Amino acid sequence: MRRPLIAGNWKMNNSVEESINLVRDLRDRELSEKVDVLICPPFTSLYAIINEIKNSSIKVGAQNMYYEDKGAFTGEVSPAMLKSIGVEYVIIGHSERRQYFNETDQLINKKLKAALTHGLIPILCVGETLEQREEGMEKETVKAQIVKAFKNIEKAEKVVIAYEPVWAIGTGKVATSEQAEEMSEFIRSIIATIYNSEVADNIIIQYGGSVKSLNISEIMSQPNIDGVLVGGASLNAEEFAKIVNFGEDKKGC
Ligand code: PGA
Repeated sequence: MRRPLIAGNWKMNNSVEESINLVRDLRDRELSEKVDVLICPPFTSLYAIINEIKNSSIKVGAQNMYYEDKGAFTGEVSPAMLKSIGVEYVIIGHSERRQYFNETDQLINKKLKAALTHGLIPILCVGETLEQREEGMEKETVKAQIVKAFKNIEKAEKVVIAYEPVWAIGTGKVATSEQAEEMSEFIRSIIATIYNSEVADNIIIQYGGSVKSLNISEIMSQPNIDGVLVGGASLNAEEFAKIVNFGEDKKGC
């Protein structure tokens, strides 16, 4: 049984004070117990947020990390540092990191290995650009990203995969649920080929790209989609709570 994972990626938004206010607003709402709720604030807010939600079921993830344990890597944050403050998840290879910070599949593979070694749950982001989809290359692109990311990875079932078509991120253009489902099913089949069907059946696959309270139910009704990675809509507690509580009639959201 795959437990749904509803994650919020705050990206480069919110001061520490704003982060605390947002997480308090979220924590004080009635949130579904049928899903795991995760927020990924910027590095500067992680410690304060973890202290703030000690007795809550909300989980905390980072948006990035480096693969080395420590040393002369100015400006980087290690998996051990994240672990030491209670971070449980880490987003790896988000398309914005691939696009603006030149992250390659090789680097992403190293980060994935390091996250697993340190007991962090990686959320590996994959997805094609609009150009690649228009050329009919979307499956080939995603397959190559997955094969390279999982090179020599043993504990594949611990990895969450987020399918995020680049053309749907922050654009308001959501992939149709059929497109998202077709790719998620395809991703599961790639995992079955690299590993086996048990690993493929257990791996959590999220969809990301312009997810909102208005489209969450439709997305989550797809059999191969086990959760969502939400950007913009996760910056508003009321909206994010509605996404978390999809299909439920909760007060306070
Ligand atoms: P969006 O971002 O929900 O704002 O489209 C999704 C993401 O980048 O994870």
